[in-house]
Amino acid sequence: MTLEHKCLLAEYCSKAGNPTFCNPLCFPFTRMHGVNGDGGLLAVANIPNKYKNATIQNLPFEESNPKAFLITQKYGAKVVEKVDEGVGLYFFGVPTKENSKGTGTGKTTAAIALVIEYLRQRSILEAKQERSINNEPAFFMKMAKFQNVYSSQFSGSTETKEANGDKYQALKRKMKNVDLLVLDDIGLRGMTEAFTTEVYEIIDERETEERATIFTSNTPDDRIHEYVGEQVASRIEGMTHAIPFKGKDNRKKSL
Ligand SMILES: Nc1ncnc2c1ncn2[C@@H]1O[C@H](COP(=O)(O)OP(=O)(O)OP(=O)(O)O)[C@@H](O)[C@H]1O
Ligand SMILES: [Mg+2]
Repeated sequence: MTLEHKCLLAEYCSKAGNPTFCNPLCFPFTRMHGVNGDGGLLAVANIPNKYKNATIQNLPFEESNPKAFLITQKYGAKVVEKVDEGVGLYFFGVPTKENSKGTGTGKTTAAIALVIEYLRQRSILEAKQERSINNEPAFFMKMAKFQNVYSSQFSGSTETKEANGDKYQALKRKMKNVDLLVLDDIGLRGMTEAFTTEVYEIIDERETEERATIFTSNTPDDRIHEYVGEQVASRIEGMTHAIPFKGKDNRKKSL
């Protein structure tokens, strides 16, 4: 297996391409990618396969969203510092005539590119023995998925409920404590009061502890309170910079 092309750390590595070193025994490689290239910190961070190649160098929205592009690159260049400072971002879709929700404009891509850059820079610091990685540094969670895990505690046999309850508690703990959390697609309709309280607990803890959170949403920041309530909305507003994304929906393939 040749690792130098696949390894996100290759450009920083003086030994990249040297078969004596560039193999699965390389600790930084296995840390980042796992022994077979599909594990490691990238897998632990729960990054969907579709977005695994997103980097701050190949963001697709330079032309359509130059301001968001510059901010993502700037944040990415200093991502370890920004995360340590607890600086968060709120990437939202701007409704336009051609794209009423601002979908497919690059918000999730940008958030994941920042997670990947964060893991890359943390891995480099670890390889240089400047800062070890003792807990999970970053985690990506889709809100709808989170809601499903939450709801799964309340159906099925007693055993299933208990097992799902444990899974949910572990997930909630991780979402509170991880250094960099992405909450993807916040602003679901019809959140129950009980689920809203769970979301509140996580966001409140992250805000109090100054942990960095990146949100993506199809709801502009000044309307998110309609979906998540005033308490959650005011915390999101306080802990993030709101960055608009506009333009056509790039998911749609041309005819
Ligand atoms: N400006 C762009 N130019 C070209 N391709 C883009 C652009 N923005 C996003 N894409 C591509 O479109 C697809 C969807 O992008 P992404 O998931 O980041 O959108 P999103 O804004 O999060 O959408 P949604 O609001 O529906 O969650 C991806 O394959 C991405 O690479
Ligand atoms: Mg998205």
